[in-house]
Amino acid sequence: MPDLLFATNNQHKLREIRDIMGLQMRILSLKDVNLDVEIPETQETIEGNASQKAWFIREQSGLNCFADDTGLEIDALDGRPGVYSARYAGEGCSFDDNITKILLELKGVENRKACFRTVICLILDGKEHLFEGRVDGTIIKERKGIDGFGYDPVFLPDGFTQTFAEMPPYLKNGISHRGRAATKMLKRITG
Ligand code: IMP
Repeated sequence: MPDLLFATNNQHKLREIRDIMGLQMRILSLKDVNLDVEIPETQETIEGNASQKAWFIREQSGLNCFADDTGLEIDALDGRPGVYSARYAGEGCSFDDNITKILLELKGVENRKACFRTVICLILDGKEHLFEGRVDGTIIKERKGIDGFGYDPVFLPDGFTQTFAEMPPYLKNGISHRGRAATKMLKRITG
């Protein structure tokens, strides 16, 4: 089974990617290759951050690798939090602080349409490849469910009655932004 290094310190993302791709590839973590580093993400687009993270780890490790950058884009907030999804409520904020902030901003707002967008940047033999995955849905008014991470408790994907935080992982991964981007990458690698 081929190895591929995932450039992330986010253990939730690592678990999801292993669930999605683990039968076809051995997904290595940074810990598996003894890399203990902060990964910079200072770009102003999701694509830019995915590329920055992947090249940083490629330079540190010399290995083929990939990175994921994700944003929640809310229509009524002109696409915010978008590229700032991780630190929307401020430096060092928690997932819960971010949810509180978007729920406050959406108070009394009718249009609650949103999407998650992931860009995966794969560096294979020194060349960059980008893959995008997107899922549309709505932001509900109160948190529901305890699984998943980030904004999952308030994201209801279109066509479903459970939030991402209420779904079993296989269901989220089967329809999610990350699942869709990772499946495209897998097709590119395995042909
Ligand atoms: P980043 O890709 O690490 O910059 O992720 C940005 C932020 O988006 C994370 O800190 C989470 O709050 C959120 N996020 C990323 N992926 C997901 C997901 O699958 N579900 C819910 N929130 C997510």
